[in-house]
Amino acid sequence: MCFFNSIKTNIKLKCFLNFTESLKNKVGSKNKLKRFKENETFTNVYQPSRQDLVEADYDLKGDWNASVFKNSNPLVLELGCGKGEYSVALAKKFPERNFIGIDIKGARFWRGAKTALEENIPNVAFLRMQIELIDHAFAKNEIDEIWITFPDPQIKYKRTKHRLINQEFLKRYKKILKPNGCVNLKTDSEFMHGYTLGLLHGEGHEVIYANHDVYKNEGSPEEVTGIQTFYEEQYLEQNKPITYIRFKIKDN
Ligand SMILES: C[S@@+](CC[C@H](N)C(=O)[O-])C[C@H]1O[C@@H](n2cnc3c(N)ncnc32)[C@H](O)[C@@H]1O
Repeated sequence: MCFFNSIKTNIKLKCFLNFTESLKNKVGSKNKLKRFKENETFTNVYQPSRQDLVEADYDLKGDWNASVFKNSNPLVLELGCGKGEYSVALAKKFPERNFIGIDIKGARFWRGAKTALEENIPNVAFLRMQIELIDHAFAKNEIDEIWITFPDPQIKYKRTKHRLINQEFLKRYKKILKPNGCVNLKTDSEFMHGYTLGLLHGEGHEVIYANHDVYKNEGSPEEVTGIQTFYEEQYLEQNKPITYIRFKIKDN
């Protein structure tokens, strides 16, 4: 009897958990839809279709500064910007530079785009696209600098092609960067830090600066130690070292 009662209780508990999980999913999807709709009305959000990018390159290619920012300031990208916290913080810190946060997940960068509009920050925009197509959205030598903050390390060998730093991505970044343009990688992933240093040394790119624990070892620029995203704060609470590399991609 006791045995059957415990099965019944387990079944009830499972039903309850399934119900709360599906409720959470429903609320999550509703929020996402709301954010997608709002993104369409935001003046600082750009969402080209794959077709817009691939068939004839994007309209704004080579024209971002003139059309979007109306100046000729240095143009900086943050790739995989998530909620856009880093892009917004950099834009506030460097009003004389223009920033574009790029991510495929529009419901995430909705946060950064909304903050930028609410706080009247004119030098940051958000672009929803696959980073694999980056050279369809930006012209040769259009970009002064690239930031990649806390990318998914994609540790499994089969996932190498999705790592935002790999041989193929470096070739794409080189195409759009100015000759002296640098890439900045900030990560909590020891794997990503080590893999990147190995790749850079192996291919003969120039490592300008590397630090394997930016809050313990002095020398990192203020924009590395002075800006923390939501995720970075969590990593810091877990006492994870945060690493940083600044490098230049050599000519092909
Ligand atoms: C781990 S999150 C980091 C977000 C943010 N940089 C931060 O520090 O909080 C990685 C982000 O990169 C985006 N991403 C990864 N690969 C991408 C790709 N190939 N194209 C566009 N976005 C990508 C994901 O959608 C995700 O938002």
